[in-house]
Amino acid sequence: MKVLVIGGGAREHALCRSLSLDPDVSALYCAPGNAGIAEVAELYPVDALDGAAVAALATELGAGLVVVGPEAPLVAGVADAVRAAGIPVFGPSAEAALLEGSKAFAKDVMASAGVPTARSYVCTTPEEVDEALDAFGAPYVVKDDGLAAGKGVVVTADLAAARAHALGCDRVVIEEFLDGPEVSLFAITDGVTVLPLQPAQDFKRALDGDEGPNTGGMGAYSPLPWADPKLVDEVMASVLQPTVDELRRRGTPFSGLLYAGLAITSRGVRVIEFNARFGDPETQVVLARLRTPLASVLLGAATGTLHTEPPLNWREDAAVTVVIASHNYPETPRTGDPIEGLAEVAAEDAPEAYVLHAGTRREGDAVVSAGGRVLSVTATGSDLAQARERAYKAVGRIRLDGSQHRTDIAAKAAEGR
Ligand code: AMP
Ligand code: GLY
Repeated sequence: MKVLVIGGGAREHALCRSLSLDPDVSALYCAPGNAGIAEVAELYPVDALDGAAVAALATELGAGLVVVGPEAPLVAGVADAVRAAGIPVFGPSAEAALLEGSKAFAKDVMASAGVPTARSYVCTTPEEVDEALDAFGAPYVVKDDGLAAGKGVVVTADLAAARAHALGCDRVVIEEFLDGPEVSLFAITDGVTVLPLQPAQDFKRALDGDEGPNTGGMGAYSPLPWADPKLVDEVMASVLQPTVDELRRRGTPFSGLLYAGLAITSRGVRVIEFNARFGDPETQVVLARLRTPLASVLLGAATGTLHTEPPLNWREDAAVTVVIASHNYPETPRTGDPIEGLAEVAAEDAPEAYVLHAGTRREGDAVVSAGGRVLSVTATGSDLAQARERAYKAVGRIRLDGSQHRTDIAAKAAEGR
């Protein structure tokens, strides 16, 4: 099978890495890709948001499966364009991707499906905003209704800041604050059958100890030794299957990757958000632990035949990924800095530790930074402590001027806290 992956972050590098190890994959292409993906796939400089261009490229390459990584092309209808060209595609239609593209739509689906989530109001006027903020009290949770590349959510005890964010959005969801640890649980679905993956935890704040601004994610680990072993079954029954069933009932079936961002509160599991694609950086650790070859599972989701796939097979290993971000991420990241040490990791630390590229590009013989999150250094081990040690050893070999990373990814979980 020839596979075309759309996107160019560390998540797409992780997907391409797994696909490149799958004996069913005869050729692997990626658009637009990055310097790391170029080592496992042939790159094409196509605009990921241009459905017609992506469909034309897939047709020209004779792709038997297109995998759309990021949310923006999904919300823009890129999967629809590829499907219309008669090519199986892993990723939801624009209508189903609204589950991520509109927080208000997601709340409406959850209400219909009886899925537990924070109580909320959708507000469009200053009066409604004030009423909602007053109703819930501090800490305030204010979410821009639309896609905002990780910048749409403000959680604050400061009423003026909450109000200012709300008034800067056309439509906002204001909701109850959820307390408790967060879990990301992904499921692969064809719109009927739902296949949950293993849970992971992401670190959203820029600095150690969960300080600093929100980011796209600074690191992740899996499994979660502290979590209830019944968590996956419970979320399947209360969240994933009902949501997939509800979208099918509405005539907009969801196929692809359903990402449930969950809070484990004292009153039970609550959905914080849905995403319509693999999470980044959680995918890096989840795929590191998946033994089942990926292509046939993704194809099963794309063609409505997931019920014929054998159960997923997981390694006992733990996995940790640490994101190396550029100077001044997330505000105004500096790019164009040379990255050194990649060959040393490949020579000294592989295969237990390896570097997945996010914002990188090749400049002559050099690899330079080209985005906010630059690398996602991933490692496996017999437990989290070993995976963590290997990941940080590899991080220590990378040299990128002004770069930053968290030093506490998976630290508490590795210590059994
Ligand atoms: P989102 O973009 O919806 O993932 O939100 C970003 C982050 O804001 C989440 O990962 C949470 O840490 C936080 N957050 C969102 N909604 C809530 C909530 N209702 N209560 C507490 N924290 C929240
Ligand atoms: N890691 C958070 C996300 O992918 O949205």
